Amino acid sequence: MPNEGSYEAALRRSNQIQADLADGKTEAYTMLTGDRPTGRLHMGHYFGTLIERVRLQNMGVKSNVIIADYQVITDRDNTEHIQDNVYNMVMDYLACGIDPAKTMIFTHSAVPAANQLMLPFLSLVSEAELERNPTVKAEQEASGHALTGLLLTYPVHQACDILFCKGNIVPVGRDQLPHIEVTSKIARRFNDRYHCNVFPEVSGLLTSTPLLPGLDGRKMSKSYGNAISLCMTAEETAKLIKKSKTDSDRNITFDPENRPGVSALLTTAGICTGRDPKEIAEEIGMGGGGALKRYVTEAVNGYFAPIREKRREYEQDLDYIKDVLHDGNRRANEVAQATLAEVQEAMGMVY
Ligand code: TRP
Repeated sequence: MPNEGSYEAALRRSNQIQADLADGKTEAYTMLTGDRPTGRLHMGHYFGTLIERVRLQNMGVKSNVIIADYQVITDRDNTEHIQDNVYNMVMDYLACGIDPAKTMIFTHSAVPAANQLMLPFLSLVSEAELERNPTVKAEQEASGHALTGLLLTYPVHQACDILFCKGNIVPVGRDQLPHIEVTSKIARRFNDRYHCNVFPEVSGLLTSTPLLPGLDGRKMSKSYGNAISLCMTAEETAKLIKKSKTDSDRNITFDPENRPGVSALLTTAGICTGRDPKEIAEEIGMGGGGALKRYVTEAVNGYFAPIREKRREYEQDLDYIKDVLHDGNRRANEVAQATLAEVQEAMGMVY
């Protein structure tokens, strides 16, 4: 966690930007964010970030979404299913309302000029700075792998992702703030060292939505089997909810501390219906776990029905998905080459 002071400052800055955007001052902002293609996107991604991306896109913020395929190998040893994961990620995006006419969707590996920024950027950070990044440390511990050079330097790689398109707002959770700080530092140091103004000031855009827990109350993760993927059918969703763990108290109450399973189900239903989980609990009362699960299933399947219907259409049209990606990659290359040219010009590497 970043220290409180820098968190407060980041929050103030983020609120200022949200206020600007609400006032319609969108033209000063370029958003970049993305995902590692390690699996299907789930409800946590949807309510945590996808909705926000669509909102920014539709406000007219210049929007860029990176499918960070190279980042997959920061903490795992292979690229199994990478092509399938990437295509399916595009399907998830489009089904949720990310519009390729407004948002540039592209893959990491297809944009060499963006990756080339890694060289000058690495010269702007010290080993000590890389070593003390708390998010990198946490990810290394969770992976159970040795700290690879790529994992150690991936915040710098993310700086390339953000800065090649001159992104200045990055929707993030609080745990990602250290990365934004690395990017800001690199941008500032580059401009200072080469007496130029190639890169913008970068800010994290903190979202106010609380983290949606997995169905068992733990962190939502595919590996825990507690996540409802966007691509699931209504039946698969019903099954997953049915086998989630509640407890022996028949009276349904909202109490996340003592009743994680029951409360996670109530939170899930609440976010899909726009209702207060406490109110849903009172309504179900002595109806017990069965009634609760029926309610949650209906809420989730009802909410995601139109998204899933669109997704089924995209699944039938892989050629279109590939076109979207190729077009995004082509545009990303143009942007990256222009930025790299500015970087090389600032460094005097013009021959
Ligand atoms: N690290 C992000 C994830 O794990 C993906 C990502 C790659 C990203 N580059 C980025 C996010 C730049 C924000 C900005 O999903």
